[in-house]
Amino acid sequence: MSKHDTHFFNTFSMVIGGLVVIALMIFALARTVAGHTEEPEVYADAKYVASVDERIKPFAREAVAGSDNTAMAIEATPQSGASAALPVPKDGPSLYEAVCKNCHGPGLIGAPKFGDHASWAPRIAKGKALLYQHALKGFNAMPAKGSRTDLSDELIKAGVDFMVQKGG
Ligand code: HEC
Repeated sequence: MSKHDTHFFNTFSMVIGGLVVIALMIFALARTVAGHTEEPEVYADAKYVASVDERIKPFAREAVAGSDNTAMAIEATPQSGASAALPVPKDGPSLYEAVCKNCHGPGLIGAPKFGDHASWAPRIAKGKALLYQHALKGFNAMPAKGSRTDLSDELIKAGVDFMVQKGG
């Protein structure tokens, strides 16, 4: 190799090396900036997430006879599904209106009627504690918590209080 070639080779190597260092610095800078902005401004952006979900969802579903189509079961709409949570009454009177009145209003299946003192008096005489217990745990045809076992004991007791005070 001539002296000229050596000089060229050294210079060329230095330039390439310098460019590599600059490229690495730009890359590091880009990663740092992206690390601070990419997540909050793109991936975590509600509109972006929604638009991706919209774009990648399957556009059609087809039931195939003889194969397992359970994944295609039609999702219940909130109003009609059995799994839809029933509204939770706030206090005794609204609990009575929403649940207990169904039976205790008209006096169905032997339920003591709201306002019928004659049928409530002997029950009240047994003591509040027993009325609470029967309302919470059930008593003959009286279903536990009036079938709303999702409701709190306190609310059911408030319902008993209301029925006894206003309709007993
Ligand atoms: C499915 C109908 C039905 C619903 C709904 C219902 N009850 Fe009753 N309840 C009855 C019947 C029937 C009895 C009478 C049971 C008996 O004396 O054999 C009764 C009795 C009671 C008694 C008297 C228990 C006793 O010891 O004499 C209380 C208190 C009572 N219910 C509270 C409630 C409350 C509070 C609710 C609402 C959360 C409610 N019930 C909802 C049917 C119902």
